[in-house]
Formats: sequence, C-alpha cells, structure tokens
Amino acid sequence: MHSTVRVASLKDHVGATVTLRGWLYNKRASKKLVFLELRDGSGIVQAIASLADIGEAKFAEADHLAQETSLSVTGEVRAHPKQPGVFEIAVKTFDVIGAVAGEYPITPKDHGTDFLMDHRHLWLRSKRQNAILKVRHEIIKAIRDYFDGHDFTLVDAPIFTPNACEGTSTLFETDYHGDKAYLTQSGQLYSEAAAMSLGKVYCFGPTFRAEKSKTRRHLAEFWMVEPEVAFMDLEGDMALAEDFLVSVVGRVLDKRREELKILERDTSHLERVQGPFPRVLYEDAIGVLQRAWDARKAAGTLVTQPDGTVERRPEFGDDFGADEETVISSAYDRPVIVHRYPASLKAFYFKRDPADARLALGMDVLAPEGYGEIIGGGQREDDLATLEAGIAAHKLPREAFEWYLDLRRYGSVPHAGFGLGVERTVAWTCGLPHVRETIPFPRMLNRLGP
Ligand code: 4AD
Ligand code: MG
Repeated sequence: MHSTVRVASLKDHVGATVTLRGWLYNKRASKKLVFLELRDGSGIVQAIASLADIGEAKFAEADHLAQETSLSVTGEVRAHPKQPGVFEIAVKTFDVIGAVAGEYPITPKDHGTDFLMDHRHLWLRSKRQNAILKVRHEIIKAIRDYFDGHDFTLVDAPIFTPNACEGTSTLFETDYHGDKAYLTQSGQLYSEAAAMSLGKVYCFGPTFRAEKSKTRRHLAEFWMVEPEVAFMDLEGDMALAEDFLVSVVGRVLDKRREELKILERDTSHLERVQGPFPRVLYEDAIGVLQRAWDARKAAGTLVTQPDGTVERRPEFGDDFGADEETVISSAYDRPVIVHRYPASLKAFYFKRDPADARLALGMDVLAPEGYGEIIGGGQREDDLATLEAGIAAHKLPREAFEWYLDLRRYGSVPHAGFGLGVERTVAWTCGLPHVRETIPFPRMLNRLGP
C-alpha cells in the first residue's frame, strides 16, 4: 500500500509513489499519453498515464473516462519540468470508484446562470466555486478569530423569535405549535442581553429577510456576525468596525492569494483597506448626492421614469439605495463610514443624537467599488422611557418587548454594536457581481432549490 495524500501536499512527496483520490476534472489524450486532471478539493493535479507504463487495457480505459468520474490514482510524484511549485503524477495504475451515468450536465461551454443555479449541487465542483467557498471559509474563520482574540464571548441567538428586530415588513412568519413565530432578522436584541452579562459578545448565524428585493445584494437567508459591547458609544463602534474589517480583509490577502488569483480579483483594491476609514455625516453625504444631481441636471442626464416623473433632487430624510451608496463611496479608495442617519430611517432601538434629536446614532460601512453597505449598526437607546416611546411610535407589540425593556430597567448602560453580512463581504473580497455565488445554496426571492 502507498500512502494516500491530497493534492495540496504533493510537494512533500516528490519522488515517492502515492495514491490520490478525487474526480476527473478534465482529460486530454494523444496516441500514447492520457493527461488526467484530477481534482480532490485541495487542488488539481495532472496525472499522466502512458501506454508504455500501464498497458493497453488500462490505457484504453483511461482514454474513455468521463468528466467527473471518481478515481483512485497511484503514481510517482514529479516536479513539473518547467513550472516551479507545480507537481504531476506519473500514473502506475488507477481504479474507478464511481462511474458517470450519461453525460455530466455542466460542460466547459457557457451555461446560463439559471441553469447553473438549478445545478448548484454540481456547480460547486467548479474551480471558481471551489475558490469562493474557500474564501468564504477564511472570512468566517477570520471573523471568529478576531472576536475570540479580542476578549469577546460567542453567544448564539435563537432563530425562532416572537418579535421583529429590524421592522415588521421583512419577517418570515411561521407556525410555532399554534402560535405565531418569526425567523430571526438579526440576533441583536439577544446580543444586547448577553452583553449585559459578559460585556463583549458576538452572535454569528443565519438571519432571514422576507423583503421582495430582487437585487444583486439581497438574499432571503444570509449569515451575519453581530458584536455587541457594553459601555461602548458610536465612536467606539466605528473604531471597532474599522479595526475588524481591516483584520478580516488582511487575513484573506494573507491566506487566500491562490483563490483570489483563480477569481481574477484585482487585489490592489483590497490592499488599500487600511485605517482610518473616512467618516462622513449622513447630511454631508446628502450634499454629495445633491451636487451629483445638480451636475446631471446641467448635463441633461437625469433619469425619467416610465411614468414620466423625473428623478428628484435628493434631500434630508432620503434613504440610500445601491446607486446612492455607489456615488458616495466612489470618492474613496477604501471603505467609508456614513453616520448619524435621520432617526426616521432607522429601527426603533437606535439612540438619538443628544446634539440633534432628528438623528440616530447609527452608522453604515460602505465597501468600495460599488459594493455598498456591508456593515450596519450603532449605539442603542439605553433610556427606558425613550425606548418605550420608540416601540410605541413604530407600532410594535409592547408585550413581545417586555424582556428587552428589562435590560433598561436593571442596570442599563450605554452600549453599541453592529452586524456584518458575510455574503456581501465575500462578494466584495472576491470581486463577484452578485451575492448568489457567495453562499453554498442561496435562498432568494425566486429560488428555494436545490
Ligand atoms: O443593516 P442591517 O439590517 O442591521 C441589523 O440587522 C442590525 N440589527 C445589526 C446590528 O446592529 N447588530 O443588516 C446588517 C448587515 C448589512 O449591512 C448587510 O451586510 C447584511 O447585514 N444584510 C444582508 N445581506 C444579504 N441579504 C440581505 N437581504 C441583507 N440584509 C442585510
Ligand atoms: Mg442596514
């Protein structure tokens, strides 16, 4: 028996005979040689089967192997004659583990996105999807390492919840033994409770949004990490978000160069993700949008809607969509933090700015290159009466929030936190145009399968 190894470790076995197990990614053949590209998850290696070495019967079998046949291949590891760091296998023998029934549905020709999404369970095997999954893994690990290394405690939040966190319009309702329950939109309220026990906490899990958004950055199910810190204010929150993001992007650059290369990502954009990130008041961001509007008006390029209405001039109180975020962030080469939004745009739990009651002490981090909001958060209302008024003003069912109000009844303290969406972060770091490829099995407005 020869030792069974993975492609990624071939450099440690040059000259030895080893066994590899994987799937046939691609094949080329000449009269006397068959080149089998074998992938095993850790990498792809070229295994060269020569007629002289394996005999006529095996050679004919190799020549007829179908794409995605699973194989065990035994041979000698050789350094590639021309490419340093690349290894190949001189095949001594091979065995089919699982044959391919008919033709593998995904061929090298161009398939449409819908077709690939319908075959997501197979599409995951492609080089690009494999690279994206590895970057996603690295980001998740970097997130955990950051908080674990900064004295945070992981506290999981429930997925079934009795109440809304981010507003009632985006809730998935479900039956909970005869009662109404909702799939969580955010673990924040629970993180706040945990922060009053542990000081610095984070929750990290799937969250759900039922909004009918069909955009390149909305999923119905996405993963969010949510730190929450007692005695932290908005300034501290922005500083934490900045330090955290620099650390996560730095880790991807450090560990996943190979994958970013496969994805043809221009990493110079990621190298510039260094603090300090610019901080822009919401009101100043509106000013930027107004000047952009004025310029487009002068140039006669304002957009007219199908119903004849012309795009109006942005004003205080407007929310930002993807287009506005792109205009704001395009002035910078790194993430930008927009803060102090109108309270009317924000959820019930935001603390008002003591200096201007129209404003919420909230912030969003916008990624560069048009990727838009990847972090949202802020300082929480810590005063009982003000929070009660907020719940009433948002027409939320008071009973469901009694436990949350307790946090303000028993030793309330200033506190803040934020949520980072994993998929938008993966899309940005990988340079992908759409979040649908950033999660193994995306759930979107029009997709529940496979
Ligand atoms: O801005 P959001 O809605 O904030 C919250 O949920 C807060 N409770 C977080 C907190 O303060 N603890 O969402 C936070 C982030 C967004 O910036 C975005 O990255 C991501 O979650 N996100 C989505 N990602 C994919 N699809 C969606 N539908 C998303 N909605 C939000
Ligand atoms: Mg947000």
